Amino acid sequence: MSQVQSAEPLAAEGQGGADLFELLARRASVRKFLPQPIPEETLARIVDHARRAPTSSNLQAYSILVVRERASLQALAAFAGGQRQVAEAPALLVFCADLHRLSEVVALRGGSWPGDNLDLSLVAVTDAALVGMSASLLAESLGLGSVMIGGLRNDPEGVASHLALPPRVFVLFGLALGVPAEYPPAKPRLPEGLVVFQERYGEAPPDAAAIAEYDQHIAHFHQNDNPHAWSGRVAADMAAPKRLELRAQLARLGWQFK
Ligand SMILES: Cc1cc2nc3c(=O)[nH]c(=O)nc-3n(C[C@H](O)[C@H](O)[C@H](O)COP(=O)(O)O)c2cc1C
Repeated sequence: MSQVQSAEPLAAEGQGGADLFELLARRASVRKFLPQPIPEETLARIVDHARRAPTSSNLQAYSILVVRERASLQALAAFAGGQRQVAEAPALLVFCADLHRLSEVVALRGGSWPGDNLDLSLVAVTDAALVGMSASLLAESLGLGSVMIGGLRNDPEGVASHLALPPRVFVLFGLALGVPAEYPPAKPRLPEGLVVFQERYGEAPPDAAAIAEYDQHIAHFHQNDNPHAWSGRVAADMAAPKRLELRAQLARLGWQFK
């Protein structure tokens, strides 16, 4: 029988929480790390607590690989398109969407695997993202810096083979971690009115003046005078979609997204 205990809320309304608010207000992706290693216990503590993240139906459809060997970090950096922040990081946590373990559990119970339908795939991807973001916040709270590495999806099969992933597991992103050698300023986000709506979706199409305002903020952030510093980059990125092979590559890893 499960134990039901009445629990006090973690923080009474109006109290506590300030640290997390402050942390998110100033957080930024860190791409330069000091060479000092992260103690094994610190990494274990981050991973252990990150696993407290919510998970759909308690399926825990993800796996985490802790990578610290320099040669492996360098190989993964190459897979990610030569990202120095991976090659030089003291550690990389790799977050995988994982349906392998669940398919084995089904087999243990004598069932048959229903196939990786789209919803199950989204469950695994969401679970992995939530545990990854939790790890990032925990690392940040301990004074470490981090950057997520989606570049590992440049070569999902190469990465899977390098990390000895079984079928039905793929890398969603990595999290390069270390003591920051430099801490960048917080990058501005879109004006709230473009992103946050009350009760019903807001103006569609979005307000062009608000986008122009954000272009200015990003130009200022990057210290240039590009009038389309953000929207121009979005348009360029969308004109040249990336990773068009991904569906076929993931299918070869046993992931059908049916
Ligand atoms: C899923 C995901 C994948 C990312 N992949 C990379 C990456 O491969 N390399 C990198 O340098 N930054 C990567 N980033 C970091 C983003 O570029 C960064 O979060 C974004 O520009 C906002 O900047 P900020 O985190 O400093 O606020 C990734 C972020 C996310 C959420």
